[in-house]
Amino acid sequence: MAANKNILMLPGDGVGPEVVAEVRRVADWLAAERAVGFDIAEGLVGGAAIDAEGAPISEATMQKAMDADAVLLGAVGGPKWDGLPFEQKPERALLRLRKDMELFANLRPAMVFDALVDSSSLKPDLVRGLDIMIVRELTGGVYFGEPRGIETLPDGQRRGVNTQVYTTEEIRRVAAVAFELARKRGNRVCSVEKANVMEAGVLWREEVQRLHDESYPNVELTHMYADNCAMQLVRRPKQFDVIVTDNLFGDMLSDEAAMLTGSLGMLPSASLGAADATGRRRALYEPVHGSAPDIAGQGIANPLATLLSFAMMLRYSFDLDSEARLVEQAVEAVLARGLRTADIVQEGTTTVSTREMGDALLEQLSSAV
Ligand code: NAI
Ligand code: MG
Repeated sequence: MAANKNILMLPGDGVGPEVVAEVRRVADWLAAERAVGFDIAEGLVGGAAIDAEGAPISEATMQKAMDADAVLLGAVGGPKWDGLPFEQKPERALLRLRKDMELFANLRPAMVFDALVDSSSLKPDLVRGLDIMIVRELTGGVYFGEPRGIETLPDGQRRGVNTQVYTTEEIRRVAAVAFELARKRGNRVCSVEKANVMEAGVLWREEVQRLHDESYPNVELTHMYADNCAMQLVRRPKQFDVIVTDNLFGDMLSDEAAMLTGSLGMLPSASLGAADATGRRRALYEPVHGSAPDIAGQGIANPLATLLSFAMMLRYSFDLDSEARLVEQAVEAVLARGLRTADIVQEGTTTVSTREMGDALLEQLSSAV
């Protein structure tokens, strides 16, 4: 029998614990009904950890995250901790996790469920059936490059400096993630930079092309400038399968693509790290949304973004593709039945609580088996 999968769940703050609780029930259902062996541990992160343990993430929790096969995070932050100095804020936990787990590839799918096709900011025909995966480089580029800072010039003016830096290896490892994903999807990668005006972009284009020619010749590769990509995403978004791009362009393009799908409460994400000596890849899964303090504690948050993040975990960390599909189909089915949390209500739908949405998902899963 395969070894159990070690999952660390970090519910965090605000609606985080509410949505993670529903995912926990689905995970327990899979363990019971599909004989998937999970060992699930929970830990504190963000404001919850600050209050109980004095730091946004304790060393013990950090170690558990490093040792886990995959981590599921709810959300961190909230008004209670807004006054803290930057170094002590709940959000520091995320930076620490990204850095220590070396999470260099951020995966943001933009998928439109048929039942929600009217929530898009674009016309239904443009987005029906949309399924894009944006792979954003997460640990390099202009957010981290040296030199950086604000300096005062001899004439008294001040100058702010950031530097776009990418090495061959940084480009190749994130491009490899994109090519691997494409093979399991539509087999197409669009690599995005601004090679027309940036040297780091020239290198990016060359290295992605080289890796393609060496190792992934059967994946269709195209290159696009970032400004054109921003236009194409709203003009004809279904032309894309996998998009791979740098940290800065990925930040913007993934948010733009997100809006094609409508609701923040529906958007999952994954961040993948380097494989260790045993071939295991560190990975963190989390919804795109934050702790939603305005609705926290009311039991009305949408758990689907976190549940879809868990489905990504099943697929990308555990190769449990049929279980991932089972979960995604359950989401589709409850939406098709007209059940909606408050954030995605439409005319003629039934508003349900976080817990009721979880109940409906479990019912759906049970009837599908
Ligand atoms: P937010 O994503 O928490 O909320 C934005 C809006 O979307 C709010 O109106 C909220 O009610 C709604 N919303 C978010 N998730 C929802 C869900 N699952 N169901 C229904 N409605 C939902 O972003 P905001 O308000 O800018 O930030 C709130 C706090 O969250 C801040 O402390 C911020 O720093 C933190 N944050 C944490 C993130 C993380 O843990 N990765 C990411 C973004 C923000
Ligand atoms: Mg952003």
